[in-house]
Amino acid sequence: MKLLSVLLALVASSISVSATAIDLDGQPLGASIALPRYISLANRFSLVSRNNHKKYKDNWGNAIENDRKKITIRASKNDRDDISDDFLWAIKKANHGGLVHLEKGKKYIIGKKMDLTFLKDVYVKIDGELKFTNDIDYWQKNNFYYDFQKSITFWVWGGKDVKIYGSGVINGNGQAWWDGFSGAEILDPNNKFYRPILFLTDNATNIEISGLHLKDSPCWTTFLVRTKNVVFNNVYIDAVSTNASSLPKNTDGFDSLNVDGLTVTNTRVNVGDDCFSPKPNTTNIFVKNLWCNGTHGISMGSIGQYPGVKDYISNAWLENVTLINGQNGARLKAWAGPNVGYGYIDNITYKDIHIENTDNPVVLDQCYFNINETACEKYPSKVNITNVKFLNVYGTSSGKEGRVVADLTCSPGATCTGIRLEGINITSPAGGPPQIVCENIQGDIGVECVGKSEADG
Ligand SMILES: *[C@@H]1O[C@H](CO)[C@@H](O)[C@H](O)[C@H]1NC(C)=O
Ligand SMILES: *[C@@H]1O[C@H](CO)[C@@H](O)[C@H](O)[C@H]1NC(C)=O
Ligand SMILES: *[C@@H]1O[C@H](CO)[C@@H](O)[C@H](O)[C@H]1NC(C)=O
Ligand SMILES: *[C@@H]1O[C@H](CO)[C@@H](O)[C@H](O)[C@H]1NC(C)=O
Ligand SMILES: *[C@@H]1O[C@H](CO)[C@@H](O)[C@H](O)[C@H]1NC(C)=O
Ligand SMILES: *[C@@H]1O[C@H](CO)[C@@H](O)[C@H](O)[C@H]1NC(C)=O
Ligand SMILES: *[C@@H]1O[C@H](CO)[C@@H](O)[C@H](O)[C@H]1NC(C)=O
Ligand SMILES: *[C@@H]1O[C@H](CO)[C@@H](O)[C@H](O)[C@H]1NC(C)=O
Ligand SMILES: *[C@@H]1O[C@H](CO)[C@@H](O)[C@H](O)[C@H]1NC(C)=O
Repeated sequence: MKLLSVLLALVASSISVSATAIDLDGQPLGASIALPRYISLANRFSLVSRNNHKKYKDNWGNAIENDRKKITIRASKNDRDDISDDFLWAIKKANHGGLVHLEKGKKYIIGKKMDLTFLKDVYVKIDGELKFTNDIDYWQKNNFYYDFQKSITFWVWGGKDVKIYGSGVINGNGQAWWDGFSGAEILDPNNKFYRPILFLTDNATNIEISGLHLKDSPCWTTFLVRTKNVVFNNVYIDAVSTNASSLPKNTDGFDSLNVDGLTVTNTRVNVGDDCFSPKPNTTNIFVKNLWCNGTHGISMGSIGQYPGVKDYISNAWLENVTLINGQNGARLKAWAGPNVGYGYIDNITYKDIHIENTDNPVVLDQCYFNINETACEKYPSKVNITNVKFLNVYGTSSGKEGRVVADLTCSPGATCTGIRLEGINITSPAGGPPQIVCENIQGDIGVECVGKSEADG
C-alpha cells in the first residue's frame, strides 16, 4: 500500500488540486495548484529530505522552477473573455516561492488594470499568449500614469526577485491604438490620446525577462522605473501594423528612468522607434548581441530636458550590436537651450557595432533638441559628455547625409571630453571618402574629422 503510493507519487511527480464548482478558498473555476514533488513526498513519508534541494537555487538564491508550487488558471474563450481576476489570484497564490504557468496554445485576455507591485520571489512562465484588450475607452480611464513623457500603462510590476519567462507572447494588441493615434505627436502638449506601455516595472529589484515575444505595444514596449538589476535575455520585440496609413509610433524597445543595472542580451527588436534608449539616471548598462531593424538606434538619452533637474547616464557597455535600416545607429543626445536641465553622460563604450543602411550611423548631439548653431552657442548644454568610446564600428550609411557617416556635435564651451573613435569603417553609398563631422570636442578624437561647414549636407 505504502509502496504503491510512493510509486504513484513518483509517476505523477506532482499532486494536483483542481478547482471545483464549490470553491472554499476563492480559487477560480478551472484553476489548479500543483505542489512540487519533493514537498508532496516529504510531507507524506519523510522519504526525501528538503535539504537535498537547497543546493539547487536560482541566481537570486531562490528555488528553481521544479521546486516551486505551480498555479494554472483557465484560458480565455475569446478575445473579450477577461481573465485578469484569475491571473491576479494566481500571482498572489504563487507569491513567495511559487510559479504561475500560462500554458502553450492557450490565450489569456487581460481587460483590467493590475497592480503587481507586491511581489516577492515569484516566477511567471508564459508559454501561451497573454493579450490585452483594445478597449481604448476603458484603458484611457483606467491605467497607471507617470509624469515622465505622460506615460500610461496597463499594469505595474514591482517588488523583488521576479522572473517572467517562457516561449510565449505578451501581446499589446496595438493596432487599434495606432489607428486612433494616427498623425498625433507624443510630445505635443495638447495630445490627450495616451497609449499604454506594454511592460513596466516600478520600485523593483531583480527582474528577469527571458524567452518571450513582446508584441505590438500601443506605445513604448518596456519602461523600467526606479528599478535595480533588470535583465532581458533572448527576447523578441516587434510592432507591426496591418494598416499602411497608421504605422506603429513611439514603440521603443527599451526605456528607463532611475535604473541601476540594466542588461539586455541576445535580443532582437523590430520597431519604428528607439531600439534601446536609457533615459535619465540610468547606470551600469550592459548590452550584448542586440539586433535592431528599422529603428531610431541605440541612444544614450536624451537627458537634461527639464529645467533645474540633474540627469545622468553612466557606465554603459554596448557590444556586438547590429543596426539595420534605421534612422540612427549608435547615438548620444543631451539637451541644450535656454530652458533645460543639467547633468552628465560618462563612461560609455560602443564596441563591435555593425550598421547597415542607416541615415546617421554615429551621432553625438549635445545641441538637442531642434536648436540651431547660433542658439546652441548662446545656450550651450549643461550636460557634460565624457569618456565615450566607439570601437570597431563598421558598415554602411543610407547615403541620406551624403558622405557624412558620423556626426559629433558638442555645444560650444560645454564639457565634451574623452571622445575616442577607433577602427571606424563606415562607407556611404554617396561614394567618395566618408566624412566624420566634429564640432567643439576637446582633445583628440583619434580620427580625422571636419567641421560642419566643410561637410556634405
Ligand atoms: C518600494 O518597495 C518596498 C518593498 O520592496 C516598499 O517597502 C516601499 O514602500 C516601496 N516604495 C515606494 C515608494 O513605493
Ligand atoms: C487605418 O488607419 C486610418 C488612420 O488612422 C484610419 O482612419 C482607418 O480607419 C484605419 N483602417 C482600418 C481598416 O482600420
Ligand atoms: C553577435 O550578435 C548576433 C546577433 O545579432 C549573433 O548572431 C552573433 O553570434 C553574435 N556574435 C558573437 C561573437 O557573440
Ligand atoms: C526589417 O524591417 C522591415 C520594415 O518593417 C521589414 O520589411 C523587413 O522584413 C525587416 N527585416 C528583417 C531582416 O526582419
Ligand atoms: C536624477 O537623480 C537626481 C539626484 O541624483 C535627482 O535630483 C533627479 O530628479 C533625478 N532625475 C529624474 C528625472 O528623476
Ligand atoms: C566604466 O564602465 C564599465 C562598465 O561598462 C565599468 O566596468 C568601469 O568600472 C567604469 N569605469 C569607471 C571609471 O567607473
Ligand atoms: C561639468 O563639467 C564642469 C567642468 O568640468 C564641472 O564644473 C561641472 O560640475 C560638471 N557638471 C556636472 C553636472 O557634472
Ligand atoms: C536659430 O534659432 C533661434 C531661436 O529659435 C532663432 O531666433 C534664429 O533666427 C535661428 N537662427 C538661424 C540662423 O536659423
Ligand atoms: C572597410 O570595409 C570595407 C567594406 O566592408 C572593406 O572592403 C575594407 O577592407 C574595410 N577597410 C578597412 C580598413 O578595414
